[in-house]
Order: sequence, then structure tokens, then C-alpha cells
Amino acid sequence: RITHLDAIEVLDSRGNPTVEAWLRLEDGSEGRAITPSGASTGMHEAVELRDGDPQRYGGKGVQQAVGHVRGEIAAALVGSAPADQRALDDALRALDGTPHKSRLGANALLAVSIAYARAAAASRRLPLYRYLGGDEAALLPVPCLNVINGGRHADNTVDFQEFKIVPHRAPSFAEAIRIGEEVFHALKSLLHAHGLSTGVGDEGGFAPNLHSNEQAIELILKAIRAAGYKPGDDVALALDPAASEMWHHGRYRFFKSNQSERDSAAMIALWDDWLQRYPIVLLEDPLSEHDWDGWSELTRQLGERVELVGDDIFCTNPELLRRGIKEGVANAILIKPNQIGTVTETLDCAAEAKAAGYGCYVSHRSGETEDSFIADLVVALGCGHIKTGSGCRGERTAKFNRLLRIEHELGARARFAGRGAFVR
Ligand code: PGA
Ligand code: ZN
Repeated sequence: RITHLDAIEVLDSRGNPTVEAWLRLEDGSEGRAITPSGASTGMHEAVELRDGDPQRYGGKGVQQAVGHVRGEIAAALVGSAPADQRALDDALRALDGTPHKSRLGANALLAVSIAYARAAAASRRLPLYRYLGGDEAALLPVPCLNVINGGRHADNTVDFQEFKIVPHRAPSFAEAIRIGEEVFHALKSLLHAHGLSTGVGDEGGFAPNLHSNEQAIELILKAIRAAGYKPGDDVALALDPAASEMWHHGRYRFFKSNQSERDSAAMIALWDDWLQRYPIVLLEDPLSEHDWDGWSELTRQLGERVELVGDDIFCTNPELLRRGIKEGVANAILIKPNQIGTVTETLDCAAEAKAAGYGCYVSHRSGETEDSFIADLVVALGCGHIKTGSGCRGERTAKFNRLLRIEHELGARARFAGRGAFVR
């Protein structure tokens, strides 16, 4: 039985307010959770309720969402005894009653959903990843570290949002993190030596002003070698250009570098060329969420060579995923719990993707907090790869540190996903 439910406004890593919920069960088990927040959001994401009051936090306050947890949601849940996570999440959805959780706010619902998961796990004396994923959950993910930030995540001249390193050859998660950090620090030295900025963007990657998107890749390849590793074999690359942000009247505008534009076919040709030149194992949002036909064509042309992850185009939403499967769009889906709004719907969406042979790639948001839920989630799903920022910033390393603890706790049972994690 749920005996207490409370919420407050706390801060995310950009200094914007977000919702924290706290829940207690009759046996004294407690759970706390904080909802993250995106910047380059997909248009079909569940609704993040913001107050819009310019007098507080520039309109970004979440007092209404907090009020819904303390008021309507608490009134419905306190005293009730949900049979399981699904029952709790069904109750939350029914209470909200809208298709995109716009009435109570997905930021309110997700905080309650995760807080309940933590309390229920504690009540059963299970680690969260096992509560969510069962006894089998023992696969540690390849961390994809976003070492150069551009696009809407940094004030620099780089159009593409995320340039990630993939230490897929490591024997364990801990070793993968070590390799990733060594490359991250080698990149810092290299940028410094070139007189480039070593300040970081929203996700903790460096955000230098570069003369081209290719230069970001060249610098990273150099850093991999400088750290003593072989590009491709030891450390591969992954990209999230966040192409929906580049969409401009049916074409792709390189909005930060040179203002040039390409059509869909020219973008596909660009990716084809990059796949030949660089050791890229994963492309996320290489085309816009508006460009379904382009996505089908891209998948037809490149889907056997690289993991193609749909973020904005799917929004962790089973309906959009189903359309994608039907139209041959992508071969993997990004899993962001706050895009859909409850734990159960997140698990369901991942299960549906897996059943269709799609990969699942678990993700943080650019506005994050110390909440490490997605670390447990990726182990629960056993889907083998996660993106949760670069090698620095506490809200990013919180997830790495949680995964290091999980790997330690699993001991000999822990397995590291390695190269096999990527769809091809
Ligand atoms: P967001 O960025 O959290 O700002 O949406 C992450 C992503 O695009 O994957
Ligand atoms: Zn993305």
C-alpha cells in the first residue's frame, strides 16, 4: 500500500526546474525520482508541463506538475495497493486521460512512476535493474561517450549535435569507461594544443568552434590514436546529428557552419560517404522526423552497414515505432523514458522493438540530474548500449558510476555487451 506521495521543484543540469517525486510504501520502503528534460525534442513526445509564468524561472517553472503530484495523483494513489508496476502506471495514465499526458504532465507522471519502481524494488529487496528486468538482467552496456557537442547543445560552429566514441572492444564496462575517459582526456590535450576551446557543452562534451563537421571526426580519431588505441578496432564512432533540428522547408540546413542546404538524397549520400571514410557503427537521427520517405530510403541503402537509430521520429512511442517497422524506417530505437512518460510504457516499447528485430539504445536527456534510473534500465533491458554524455559532469557520471556499481555487484555474472550490441 502506498502511504505517502510528495513532490518538489528541484533543478536539472541546465539550472532549470524539474519535478522530483518521493513515495513511501506501508512497509517503509521509499523511492525518489527526478524527471530529466530535453532540448532537441521530438514533436510527438509526451508533454512536459511548464507553468509559463514569466515571473518564475523564465516561464519554466513546474509548480503545476508538482501540484498535480501532491494533489490529484496523491489523492488517487495514497491508500491504494497497485498489484505491480503495470497497475500503477495504468492508474497514472487513466488519471491523466490524454494521449500525450498533457493534463497532469509527463514530467509529473514519470517521476511518480520511477519513484514507485524504486520503492517496490526496495520492498522486494531487489536491485532496481532486477526489479525491472528479472533475474536474467546481467548485460552491461557499451557506453557511447559524447565527446564533442554541437547543434542545439552548444554555442559553437558545429552543426551536428553529438560526436560519440564507442569503446566496444573492452572486456568489461569498467574497462570501457577507462578507455573512453583516456580518449576524452587525450582529446582535451589535443584541443588545447590546437588553441581550441576546452569548455564543455550541455552533455559534457567539448564544444570548440571548428571549421567543419569533419574536423570534429578528425580530431576524435587523432585523440583515439594519441590515447594508444586503434580507431575502429578498439574505439569506434557514433553520431547523433539530430537532423530534425536542421530541417528547413523540406531541406537540411547546416545552420551553424556555412548555411548551405542539402536535400534528403544528398544527406543520404553524405552518410554513405562518411561510412566509407570513418569507423562509424551507429547513426542516430541522420534524417529529420518529418522525412519518413527519406528514412525508408536511407534504411534501404545503409541499413545493412550501420545501426540506424530513430530518436525524434519514434519518440519512444509504440505507435510511431509500428509505423517505422511497416515502412522500413531505421533498425533501432532510442529509449528515453520521459518521451513516453511511464516505466511500463518504456519497457513495452523496448519489448516491441526487440520483437521486430530492432536494437534498443537507452538514452539520457540533455537536461539531466543525479537520478541514475537509465543505468538500471539499460541493464534491465539487456540491450547493450547507452548514451549518457561525455566523460565529465556529475549528472552524466552518475549513470556511469551506477553502472560500475552494478557490474561490481553482479561479479562473475556480469557480461559486457561489446561489439555485438550494435545492429547491422
Ligand atoms: P535532447 O538531446 O535530450 O536535447 O533531446 C538528446 C538527443 O537528441 O538524443
Ligand atoms: Zn537524438
